[in-house]
Amino acid sequence: MKKIFSVVLSFALLLSLASCGGPTSSNTTTTTAAPQTTAAPQTTAAPQTTAAPETTAAPQTTAAPSGKVDIGIVLPTKDEPRWIQDETRFGDALKSTPYKSQVLFSQGSSATEKTNVESLISQGVKVLIICPQDATAAAAAVEEAKAAGIIVISYDRLITNTSAVDYYVTFDSVTVGKTQAQYLVDHATGTKGQPLYLYAGASSDNNAFLFFQGAWSVLQPKIADGTFVVENSSEAVGLKDKADLTRDEQSKIISQITTNWDFNAAKNIATSNLTAVGDDAKGDVLILAPNDGTARSIADTFAADPAVKSYVITGQDAEKASVQYIIDGKQNMTVFKDVRELVKDTITMAESVLQGKTPDTTAKYDNGKIQVPAKQTTVIAVDKSNVKAALIDSGYYQATDFTGL
Ligand code: GAL
Repeated sequence: MKKIFSVVLSFALLLSLASCGGPTSSNTTTTTAAPQTTAAPQTTAAPQTTAAPETTAAPQTTAAPSGKVDIGIVLPTKDEPRWIQDETRFGDALKSTPYKSQVLFSQGSSATEKTNVESLISQGVKVLIICPQDATAAAAAVEEAKAAGIIVISYDRLITNTSAVDYYVTFDSVTVGKTQAQYLVDHATGTKGQPLYLYAGASSDNNAFLFFQGAWSVLQPKIADGTFVVENSSEAVGLKDKADLTRDEQSKIISQITTNWDFNAAKNIATSNLTAVGDDAKGDVLILAPNDGTARSIADTFAADPAVKSYVITGQDAEKASVQYIIDGKQNMTVFKDVRELVKDTITMAESVLQGKTPDTTAKYDNGKIQVPAKQTTVIAVDKSNVKAALIDSGYYQATDFTGL
């Protein structure tokens, strides 16, 4: 069932955009609409429904008159903790600005995403920050925004095959994959023929390719020389001697090992992989899991197989549940992407645009149609040895969020 959620940050006092010199924090009120649990009709008129009756929050409606939202943020789904983190961090960062913003979730549907974008257009949004559900499908939505004179910032995931993307704000996704793979190399126990299971994200997400590209660059020499044996992808085995894969070759491998970023899909594919192989492909295994949600599912599946003696598994996002898994020894590492930094870069970029300036960028990403100017943020590998320093001492999470630290 598709769910629509909305959060509206309403600011009582909005300074004139033309005259905004710096942030102001006075008279800010924040209201939050309750999650909608019923399927929403796919209409352009009313993607945001009113607040659920059981809440005390003032109803958030779609009827905001034109020009009432400055910055619109569209995120992929509330079903993954990663994107709820982003919603929270945007809320924190925008509190001290004069801008009115609205965060909408696409709930895994490109149709809902387009409806959300249309709703923001109708509310006079000036900057659209959008993390696409599907890289290519989102092109139509942002082209509509562009045609309405809106600046489009692709957030975390790149929107491909369109010229309607002005900027891209992202983590260094190739390094994410390299970091995961390097962890496996550094924690391998065997020198010959250690079983390796590869998993990837959704092939509709450009990042899934970047993560895999980074991981392959580190793992491929070890697969080629027989240190590791890929047990769950005949395409990867067939390409083991090739250092640089084409997009098409990556695609062939990813289609065999995709989790679709879905916890249940991850569990199902891991289960069928373990059913398909003999005990000689188990024992002490290495697992490339693309992110934390899928890592927990895959780790649980491998842990339940009596022929798996030990596993080393990667992750990404530093989701709280995975931080607990790391503390408990059930997941080995995660790649910490400090969403505070990503949000800060994005807001800074949006502010520049709203002030008529050209934002700072540090890289360019080819989206298949244009070179998109990008701002890139670094990532940090986290395991048991540095979890406290990286995530608690840095103020990202509270120690009380976890047990056994
Ligand atoms: C990626 C994102 C990751 C992860 C994944 C699943 O695009 O960069 O952080 O959350 O999507 O949603």
